Amino acid sequence: MKNKKVVVFGSTGLIGGLLINYLLSDSSFEQIVVVSRRPLNINHKKLSNQIINFSNKIQIDNSVKNCSIVFSSIGTTKAKVQNNKDKYREIDFDINFNIAKSCKLNNVNKFILISSSGANSKSSNFYLKLKGEIEHEINKLNLNSFIVLRPSLLLGKRNEFRLGERTGQIILPLFSKIIPPNVKPINAEQVAKAMILYAKSNMSGNNIINNKSILKLI
Ligand SMILES: NC(=O)c1ccc[n+]([C@@H]2O[C@H](COP(=O)([O-])OP(=O)(O)OC[C@H]3O[C@@H](n4cnc5c(N)ncnc54)[C@H](OP(=O)(O)O)[C@@H]3O)[C@@H](O)[C@H]2O)c1
Repeated sequence: MKNKKVVVFGSTGLIGGLLINYLLSDSSFEQIVVVSRRPLNINHKKLSNQIINFSNKIQIDNSVKNCSIVFSSIGTTKAKVQNNKDKYREIDFDINFNIAKSCKLNNVNKFILISSSGANSKSSNFYLKLKGEIEHEINKLNLNSFIVLRPSLLLGKRNEFRLGERTGQIILPLFSKIIPPNVKPINAEQVAKAMILYAKSNMSGNNIINNKSILKLI
């Protein structure tokens, strides 16, 4: 089935960048609208870039009008928000929740969100609790189709250095045989490819795809 117009949030990040490449080379996606706060700088006849102010809900609403699928891999890190938990929440929770509400308002067919392995609204860990809370609140919106992917530590090349991530990327693969599948590091490419496969699925309602399932899929 052809998807006339899809909208991508998070395109300037690791997963989002890979997702854009797969969407551009897949003929079942005809028009890709990238919504970002800074230019993406990719020229392609299928792609257009809308720069918006993410604190403005109306601009988010307008950006998802008349599209069939919305993807979001928006998120931040402790370092980027200088350990400010309110700021962290404004990005991982508020922005993604506003995107989900816009999907509801505009009757978008499907919303695909990147969360995290271990997401749990009851967790004592700030990050896992935040990821669990955003999933939980979006579930309550009863979107036509909400697909949340929960990858573990991402493997892939970034333009920036992240100490914690880099340490995990070196150490965890050494124990790969004994690490439970839902915690095993995963290539960012696999996650982006899984987003494409789930975009083409006919799953409705709320769906959680854990790390183990993504690893098995691709
Ligand atoms: N890293 C891991 O190992 C790991 C593991 C599991 C789950 N995750 C989750 O997976 C998701 C994607 O990860 P990733 O590594 O692809 O992310 P990433 O490379 O850090 O990219 C994050 C994206 O979010 C955007 N963003 C951040 N703050 C924003 C703001 N205030 N307004 C608008 N856009 C904003 C960034 O835009 P700019 O380029 O403009 O900043 C970028 O496009 C995140 O939610 C992350 O928490 C990560």
